Amino acid sequence: MDRKRMTVKRLFDKKQAEEKITLITAYDYTTAKCLDAAEIDIVLIGDSLGQVVLGYNTTLQVTLDDVIHHTKAVARGIEYALILADMPFMTYQVNSDLALINAGRLMQEGNAHSVKLEGGQEIAPTIKKIVDAGIPVMGHIGFTPQSYFKLGGNRIQGRSEADAKKMIADAKALEDAGVFSIVLELIPAELAKRITEAVDVPTLGIGAGIHCDGQVQVSHDILGLLSDFKPKHAKRYKNIADEITDAFKQFKSDVSQGIFPADENSF
Ligand code: KIV
Repeated sequence: MDRKRMTVKRLFDKKQAEEKITLITAYDYTTAKCLDAAEIDIVLIGDSLGQVVLGYNTTLQVTLDDVIHHTKAVARGIEYALILADMPFMTYQVNSDLALINAGRLMQEGNAHSVKLEGGQEIAPTIKKIVDAGIPVMGHIGFTPQSYFKLGGNRIQGRSEADAKKMIADAKALEDAGVFSIVLELIPAELAKRITEAVDVPTLGIGAGIHCDGQVQVSHDILGLLSDFKPKHAKRYKNIADEITDAFKQFKSDVSQGIFPADENSF
């Protein structure tokens, strides 16, 4: 079958057909090419960029220009996946006009196909304005990393029935505002099931259990690119940091011993 480009419509069709959706983050051209070769549905240039690439403690320091720069690189490596760019802290909270301008920059300058922003009912009017301008928006509720200090760290959200009910109302408000999908981060699996049943748009979980319509992961977590960081919600498929360090050690040893460059590497 001919492979087609992923679209927001096709994601919706996947939910209807009960086919699971996959989303993985990328921040560069090389990783983007690998994700496209693996037929991942959505590639997110997340503001996790701040932690896993730029070495910050939180996502709060990431700027719109940072995300545009990395989205451009990712977009050059993608032929099929839906390209989703995160709207960083303070690029959409101030007012909806600024939010629309900034979402537009991610599309025009970054070559994104869609944008993601964090928040529930309070952000719904802003989302509606961006969607009405023709820009597909993904919502993000549960643990929202840009509210790290307000939430008191990386904590599971929605444990009480009152919080769970509010989160279901948030999801419905986002759907009414026109999102094409919603990320559910760090919430009990049972609550993710309730939200997934309450909305028609696909839910994508990260630390939200098996009942979501799809799963999200940060590429560095599943590749083992940061050997000292292993979140419970991630499954490590490789230990790439160890392999890279080994390769660098071998190079150093070869150079020290005069084994590299060999004849075949010389002119
Ligand atoms: O920035 C990011 O990587 C994200 C995912 C955790 C959903 O927002």
